[in-house]
Amino acid sequence: MIKVRVASRARVAEDIVRLDLVHAEGGELPSFSAGAHVDLFLGNGLTRQYSLCNDPADRDRYRIAVLREPSSRGGSAHVHDTLTEGAVLDISPPRNLFALDETGGEHLLFAGGVGVTPILAMAHRLHALGARFTLHYCARSRSRAAFLDELAAAPFAAAVRLTFDDEPDTRLDLDTALASPTPNRRLYVCGPGGFMRFVTEGAAARGWTPEQIRKEHFAAEASVGENQPFELLIASSGQVVPVPADQTAAQALEAAGVFVLLSCEQGVCGTCLTRVIEGQPDHRDTFQTDAEKATGEQFTPCCSRALGPRLVIDL
Ligand code: FES
Repeated sequence: MIKVRVASRARVAEDIVRLDLVHAEGGELPSFSAGAHVDLFLGNGLTRQYSLCNDPADRDRYRIAVLREPSSRGGSAHVHDTLTEGAVLDISPPRNLFALDETGGEHLLFAGGVGVTPILAMAHRLHALGARFTLHYCARSRSRAAFLDELAAAPFAAAVRLTFDDEPDTRLDLDTALASPTPNRRLYVCGPGGFMRFVTEGAAARGWTPEQIRKEHFAAEASVGENQPFELLIASSGQVVPVPADQTAAQALEAAGVFVLLSCEQGVCGTCLTRVIEGQPDHRDTFQTDAEKATGEQFTPCCSRALGPRLVIDL
C-alpha cells in the first residue's frame, strides 16, 4: 500500500477527469514501466485499476484518467464525486500486465477512448528510447478524447494519428495502418471490446501473429450471452454451491460462507483466480491470455461461469 494525495485534478474531456497522485508524505514514488496500472482502494469497499499515463521517467507523481462509466457500480462515480484535490487514499504499487516489448523494431499503438491511458505512457517511453512508433488514437468525437492538447504539444506529436467517429475524413484505414506485419513489428491495443476486436481481427486477417499483438481491455466486457445456472463443488470439503443465473460464482461462494479474495470484480486483475480441477470454465475475464484460458486450469469466479453443469474447484 502507498498513501497518496490528489495533487491536482482537471477535466480533460467530456466525462473524463485526470488526477495527479503524489506521495502523501512527499518524495519519490516507486518506479513504473509503460503499460502499468495501480489499484485504487476507494474507501467505499471498492478497488479499481487505472493505468498510469504519464512518462515512466516521472518519479514524483502518478497520472491517471478516469471515465465516468454510465453503468458505474460505485468505482468511477466515486472517483469523480469524491477524489478532489487534497484527498488522500491508498493505492497499490504499480503492476504491469501490458508491458512494452522493447526489443521490437517498430511499434504500432492503438488506443480507443480512455484506453489511451497506458498507450500514452508507452509513447513517452518509446520516444525516450528513440524507437519508431505510430500512435493511432480513436474516439467518438474531439470532445470525448482526453489529452489532445498534451498530444499536440508532445515531442512525438508527428507520430500521432487521430480518428473521430463524427469526422468521416479522419477514418482509420486499417489496410494502411496494418500493412507489412514483418516479424520485428509489434502492435498494442487498448480500448473497449468492439474497438479491440476491430483492430485485433483486422490485424490477424492481414497476417499479424498473436505473438506480435498485445492488448488490454480497460474494463471487462459485459457478460456474454445468457447466464445459465451451474454448481461448484469445493474439492477440500465436498460442499456443493449452486450458482444461480443472477449471481456470480463469487457471490454464491460468499453466500455459502466460502471466502474468495476479490479486488476488481470485473475479471481484470486476476486476484480471484482459482484452480479448476474438473469441468469447463466459461471464461469472461480479460486477465488470462487466450492460451491460459484454453487450458481451462483456472477461472475467475468474480465474472466467469461454467460451460457445463458443474466445476470442481481447488478451494
Ligand atoms: Fe479481479 Fe476477479 S477480482 S479478476
